Amino acid sequence: MSLKSGAEQVVAFEASAAHAAAARRRLERLFGDTTGRRVQVLTGKSTDMEETALMPFGTKPDLLVAELLGYTASEEGAPAVFADLQRRLGPLPAVPSAAQSLAVPVAPLVLSRTDVWRNWWVHGGWLSRGQFPPGPALYDCRNFPRELELAEPQVWEEFNFSNLDQLEAQLQQDRELVFNLPAGTEVGGLLLWMRAELADGIYIDTRKECTSWNQYYLHLGPQVIGPDGRLGVSAKVDARTEDVSYEFQVGQKSYRSHP
Ligand SMILES: C[S@@+](CC[C@H](N)C(=O)[O-])C[C@H]1O[C@@H](n2cnc3c(N)ncnc32)[C@H](O)[C@@H]1O
Repeated sequence: MSLKSGAEQVVAFEASAAHAAAARRRLERLFGDTTGRRVQVLTGKSTDMEETALMPFGTKPDLLVAELLGYTASEEGAPAVFADLQRRLGPLPAVPSAAQSLAVPVAPLVLSRTDVWRNWWVHGGWLSRGQFPPGPALYDCRNFPRELELAEPQVWEEFNFSNLDQLEAQLQQDRELVFNLPAGTEVGGLLLWMRAELADGIYIDTRKECTSWNQYYLHLGPQVIGPDGRLGVSAKVDARTEDVSYEFQVGQKSYRSHP
């Protein structure tokens, strides 16, 4: 894509040897003898490579491009990888330039018999009211019914991949969100998803657009909003390394992504 979009030279890093070999075969088919002069595919994690290995053509890059986004903005390690490259090669513009994760409280999910049967058929057993485990748990999902959303979504983590000072400060985040809901509202969990800004004003929102990314449903178990009409959600993010961890606290219930 970068070559087709006008890059003179491209250096690609791929941690998986099989994926790197597949990329090299494809590039050789496309560019034949000129491949080596135009593109280098290096096997290994960029974060493990010496600075000289990051620049096999001997020059600093003009642009960083990485698809390291997951169902959340940070779960595949994009903040740590971009921060490492910005420290050693930057400052550089990045694609995506920024990404956020959002959350919205949702009403308890009650699946139809057809959905329960289909989930069992495709995934080997899921879920209806009563079949959820008692504690909080995180599920992949898509097409979560919009009518179950109870409030406006709020951002629980955000990263600016093009600005190292901002990114350094964002590697650990701790937010206290408050959703205002009518007293007596029954809440079943939180829906979590990702929105990325690829370049100025060009966004992908994985809740709004149909993409290959799923969303996460953080099941909390039904709870009822008290007379103050507030649902407090605390979200702690540690994205200093590629092994990102999250901790959500909602009322008395807490969920850690890496216990
Ligand atoms: C979401 S996939 C993207 C695959 C493909 N590049 C694309 O855009 O469709 C992320 C890929 O990045 C690789 N990866 C993750 N961290 C990396 C790092 N620090 N250096 C190099 N590759 C990495 C993974 O092995 C995985 O193949």
